[in-house]
Amino acid sequence: MRHKPGRNDPCHCGSGKKYKRCHMDRDGGRAPARIAPPPTRRRRRRRTDHLVLTEGERDAMRAAGAANAEAMDFIRDHVRPGAVLSDLDDLVREWTYDHGYVPACLGYKGYPKSICASVNEVVCHGIPDDYALREGDIVNLDLTTIVDGWHGDQSETFLVGEVSEEARRVTQCAFDCLYLGIEAIGPGSKVLEIGRAIVARAHADGFSVVEDFQGHGIGRSFHQDPGIPHYPDSYAGQFVLEPGMCFTIEPMINVGVKGCRIDKRDGWTARTRDGKLSAQFEHTLLMTEDGVEILTQTRRGPRPGHRF
Ligand code: MF3
Ligand code: CO
Ligand code: CO
Repeated sequence: MRHKPGRNDPCHCGSGKKYKRCHMDRDGGRAPARIAPPPTRRRRRRRTDHLVLTEGERDAMRAAGAANAEAMDFIRDHVRPGAVLSDLDDLVREWTYDHGYVPACLGYKGYPKSICASVNEVVCHGIPDDYALREGDIVNLDLTTIVDGWHGDQSETFLVGEVSEEARRVTQCAFDCLYLGIEAIGPGSKVLEIGRAIVARAHADGFSVVEDFQGHGIGRSFHQDPGIPHYPDSYAGQFVLEPGMCFTIEPMINVGVKGCRIDKRDGWTARTRDGKLSAQFEHTLLMTEDGVEILTQTRRGPRPGHRF
């Protein structure tokens, strides 16, 4: 049995090179140390300058958010047992045009109505039809208004009359998850922190977090970078939220499984796969040098800490 030379001894083949730079590898020894350092692959950071708003643009987003919040306060008094979803849609559309604004959903990628109305097991993108709300339903109304070309986007889940304990709990959870997501971030935070906070609460409550739909950057366009997953996605989560960026957080929380199915006939309505309840809340947010500013805070809607 031949004795192996040491790493720095001359190679047994007589080349004069050190063993580690010659036959050590082929003899089954450790791979020779690399001479050159591994190629430095520079992590290319996505360009995000265009997502950072000027002071004037931030004011424009504040105005859009405030207008949308006003629309939400307008419609909240109409949400009650017997209210017909398409009537709620008509009311919001008329209110919007009367104020000189534009409903963003109408005609967006072919969407036929001005708001989304998602009842019970509908996760999101419910199309208002002739359904009349019933005592015990939960309904999410998602409104988006364009003001001077800028978008304000928010949603609330409403309890229709007296609801089951399960319906109340999932609504409370979605509401708390929205604010926990907001509180988890500041200037320079990664998007990841939002999903971490949301998943922790939802799972603690025994509920699941929808992954098929996300929050989004928002501004002159309805949906833009960054994507805001409501779970800690290791890729999208690396995005850094800088002062001047606008985006939404809009967690959808399911009582049962997280999976959704989109209605084959209308191509929009997303329902839970198991038919169990789902609830959602959404705000449009501006990251500033001092922290997060909520642009779609209503005057009369639930505030952080609210108990449903
Ligand atoms: N408002 C929804 C969101 O939060 C999007 C609705 S798109 C529509 O992003 F076409 F369904 F209206
Ligand atoms: Co949105
Ligand atoms: Co929305």
